[in-house]
Amino acid sequence: MGHHRGVPPDVIEITDPADPRLADYSALTDVDLRTKFEPPAGLFIAEGELVIRRAVEAGYRLRSLLLSEKWLPGVAALAGDAPLYLASVELLEQVTGFHVHRGALASVRRRPLPDLDGLLAASRRIAVLEHVNTHTNVGAIFRGAAGLGMDAVVLSPSCADPLYRRAVRVSMGEVFKVPYTRLEPWPRGLARLREAGYRLLALTPGVDAVPLPEFRPAPGERLALLLGAEGPGLSPAALAAADTRVCIPMAAGVDSLNVAAAAAVAFYAVTSAG
Ligand SMILES: C[S@@+](CC[C@H](N)C(=O)[O-])C[C@H]1O[C@@H](n2cnc3c(N)ncnc32)[C@H](O)[C@@H]1O
Repeated sequence: MGHHRGVPPDVIEITDPADPRLADYSALTDVDLRTKFEPPAGLFIAEGELVIRRAVEAGYRLRSLLLSEKWLPGVAALAGDAPLYLASVELLEQVTGFHVHRGALASVRRRPLPDLDGLLAASRRIAVLEHVNTHTNVGAIFRGAAGLGMDAVVLSPSCADPLYRRAVRVSMGEVFKVPYTRLEPWPRGLARLREAGYRLLALTPGVDAVPLPEFRPAPGERLALLLGAEGPGLSPAALAAADTRVCIPMAAGVDSLNVAAAAAVAFYAVTSAG
């Protein structure tokens, strides 16, 4: 690397893996450490040109970019006024702890979460996740929510962070398009959804549920779809708080779908009805 190879002068080349300017990017594979560090530090990590572009297009501001030389032509224009750090593939791996296939990382400023009442007022179809604590499921649910026209997502306090790197990547950056917020106290706070005019639908494979193909919302009705975690499913308290239980009928001998797959089926049903 070097300016003699056409590196623009405003690009900062980094050769020391301990350089403090790369602190945002250290130990990216340590989920425990990262999930404790990122939200209070007000940042998240976006990986790959497409996802970084979607973050910028959604109005997020970058703290910095870190990339290897190959990615400079596609990604440099996204930097805005953020510092752009260039490093070798080996150094990227040393700092982050993994081989960065997509070659470009951005440290992105978080924004405050929207106010629940405003979000409810502006929406008609929302997904409510209880204890969905797997980043890949959260990412896939956001991708489905964006693609199928859900207006917002509400998370119980123990749900995984939608802006954690793997969730962002699995969502293909669609996580930036769907507004979301957290609901506390859980599950008592669900009453606020009903007060805002939502019917609470519990998505559950339970036998006493209305089959989704038979479910018809009233004209203009607002719907909140409650989805539970892999394993336990919705808690008894969340099921009790719901107005209606709805199931996706399963073929003989199959208990349930993965939560993101169930979400996509239900999102399609409620966004294409009424
Ligand atoms: C893997 S399932 C949990 C299964 C759990 N044994 C239960 O009884 O809920 C995860 C979540 O996906 C949704 N889900 C999965 N399959 C479903 C189905 N056939 N009908 C309705 N919801 C379903 C529910 O919201 C559920 O809480």
